[in-house]
Amino acid sequence: YSLIESLRQQRDRGITRMPDRYILPASDRPGDDLGTVKLPVVDVGRLRDRSQRASVLDTLDAACREYGFFQASTLQKVVNHGVERGVINGLLDVARQFFELPVERRGRYMSPDVRAPVRYGTSFNQAKDAVLFWRDFLKLACQPLHAAVASWPDEPADLREVAARYAMANHELFMELMEAALEALGIPRRRGLLGELAVGYSQLMLNCYPACPQPELALGLPPHSDYGLFTILLQGQVEGLQVMHHGRWLTVDPVPGSFTVNVGDHLEIYSNGRYKSMLHRVRVNSTQPRISVASFHSVPVERVIGPAPELVNEGNPPQYMDTDYATFLAYLASTGVKHKSFLQSRK
Ligand code: SIN
Ligand code: FE2
Repeated sequence: YSLIESLRQQRDRGITRMPDRYILPASDRPGDDLGTVKLPVVDVGRLRDRSQRASVLDTLDAACREYGFFQASTLQKVVNHGVERGVINGLLDVARQFFELPVERRGRYMSPDVRAPVRYGTSFNQAKDAVLFWRDFLKLACQPLHAAVASWPDEPADLREVAARYAMANHELFMELMEAALEALGIPRRRGLLGELAVGYSQLMLNCYPACPQPELALGLPPHSDYGLFTILLQGQVEGLQVMHHGRWLTVDPVPGSFTVNVGDHLEIYSNGRYKSMLHRVRVNSTQPRISVASFHSVPVERVIGPAPELVNEGNPPQYMDTDYATFLAYLASTGVKHKSFLQSRK
């Protein structure tokens, strides 16, 4: 099943009303917009400047504690790595083109197996969602990259090349942000996770949220927190992401040239609760489709993660159980309650 395809069929039959299976119960609807939030900006160029690093680390630390989100401004980084703006725009373009392919070609990548390295799907957790969410997605596993790429869709023609270049640059950015986070947390480099992260869990999620006839009745994604250490999100020009902040849903403005980065469950666990994996959700709109690309990064799937030993002592007991990817998958398979975070079950 594909949302894009069912909308096409409706259009061909002249139907424009909201399909019933997307209408949320009144208590789960998005409600009124409560405004936008200006997230703290972590300037990756300044992070590399010895004289400015400490102040950027303070910004990162405060943002991860207060919002669980920040903007990573990467203009300089992009230049330094020879990855032109073209790769970022190119990725949004190939994503758009993929979702426009005829369903016979796009549909080849559908799979009910959440572990499939390439998977085209819809909603949030289609097997469990009582009401569907207004989204189609293409998941691309990225680890190890050279092997993963061979299983990615070969159309549009440059998808593999563009997405691989993006994935590589994005992983480098992730490593740089993790190194900064460990430093901000006071975890010595040698004993950190960096070696494992270089070969860790990593995937791209290309999202398409079509224009929706009655956006006040639906959501693109339900309130959820992310699984990994950091998620690095590329938004096009169209807003839709909202974060929970002091009990209110606030919209994150897409800032050109910057990524929206959020703390995932693993980083909250590893930081023993200092950094927060916050609920977020996606609103849809009636005028424009929205494309976004989320990159999820964490430790290798077999690795068990718990609070960092450096952050646990008599005054700070561990706040979470150790956990691994298998536990997370079992949680996903056993619960249809998507609004409750996995993290709560690990306390
Ligand atoms: C996500 O939360 O994984 C996606 C967010 C977005 O599309 O903005
Ligand atoms: Fe998310």
